[in-house]
Amino acid sequence: MPDISFSERTSAQRVAERLDKHAAGPLQAFMVPFIEHLHKLIRETRPSQADWRRAMEFLTDVGHASDGRRQEWVLLSDLLGVTALVEEINTNRPKGATPNTVRGPFYRADAPRLPLDASISLDGVGPVLSVSGHVRDLDGKPIASATVETWQANSEGFYENQQPDQQPEFNLRGIFTTDGQGCFRYKTVRPGGYAVPSDGPVGQMLGGLGFAMRRPAHLHFLIKADGFETISTHVYDGSDPHLGQDALFGVKDELIGEFTPTGKGDASTLDFTFTMVRAKKGRGTT
Ligand code: BEZ
Ligand code: FE
Repeated sequence: MPDISFSERTSAQRVAERLDKHAAGPLQAFMVPFIEHLHKLIRETRPSQADWRRAMEFLTDVGHASDGRRQEWVLLSDLLGVTALVEEINTNRPKGATPNTVRGPFYRADAPRLPLDASISLDGVGPVLSVSGHVRDLDGKPIASATVETWQANSEGFYENQQPDQQPEFNLRGIFTTDGQGCFRYKTVRPGGYAVPSDGPVGQMLGGLGFAMRRPAHLHFLIKADGFETISTHVYDGSDPHLGQDALFGVKDELIGEFTPTGKGDASTLDFTFTMVRAKKGRGTT
C-alpha cells in the first residue's frame, strides 16, 4: 500500500502524486508548482470552512458574470496585475525599446486603412488632437512601411464598441502606414480616462478593498513591421491626474506622452517616437 497519509505537511505532495509522471507538457509543468503554492497559501492563511465556501461563491459569481461580451475573469487577472506580469515576462525588451502593455478588450482587427493626415474622429466630438508618430529601430533608423493601428476612447472615456448606438462604427480607430521617414500623422480628439467595470463581483470585491479602478487617458497602438517584434502599447496623457494609479499597471515612464496645447481653443498636439527591436526567432512578430 502506498503512503496515503494526508496532513498539512504532506497534502501538496499527495495531490501532486496524482499527476501522470510520464505526461509532459506545459500544463503538467504548471500544475506541480500551482498545487504547491496553493497548498502553501492555505497553510499560511488558514481559512475557516465558511471562509473557503465564500471564496468558492466568489469564483462562481465571477464565472456567472463572464460571457461572450463581458470577461470578468480577465478583469480579475488585470486588476491583480497578473496580465501585466505575463506581458512583462514575455516581452521584456532592451533599454530604449518601446515596452508592450496589455491590448485590452476594445481592439478591433477590422478598422479602416486611412491615408496619412486623415482624421479618425468620425463624429468630430471633443477637443482636437493632432498626432505625429515616428517609428524607429534601436539605432534610430526610421522604419518605413510599418503598419500602425490605433484605437482610443472618446473624450468621455467610451470606446465606439461600447456605445454602438451613440458613436459611428469605427469612430476613433484607424490603420496607417509609415512613410519613407518612418512617420505617420493623423487627427483625432483628446481621449478621456475611464473607469473599469465596478458593477460585477471583481469590481465590488477589489474596489471594496480600495483598489484603483480608473485608467488614465491613453491612445492604443499596435505597430507591425517586417523583421521586428510587434509593439502593442499605450501612450498616456502625461497630464492625467490618475497616471500614478492605473488600474491595470500599464503606465511606464517611456509611455507617457506630452499633449501640448496649440494655443488655438482647446486643441493640442502629441509627438511620440516608437522604438522597435529586431524579432528573435519564434517570438513576438504576430
Ligand atoms: C483598455 O485600455 O482598453 C483596457 C485594457 C485592459 C482592460 C480593460 C481596458
Ligand atoms: Fe484603453
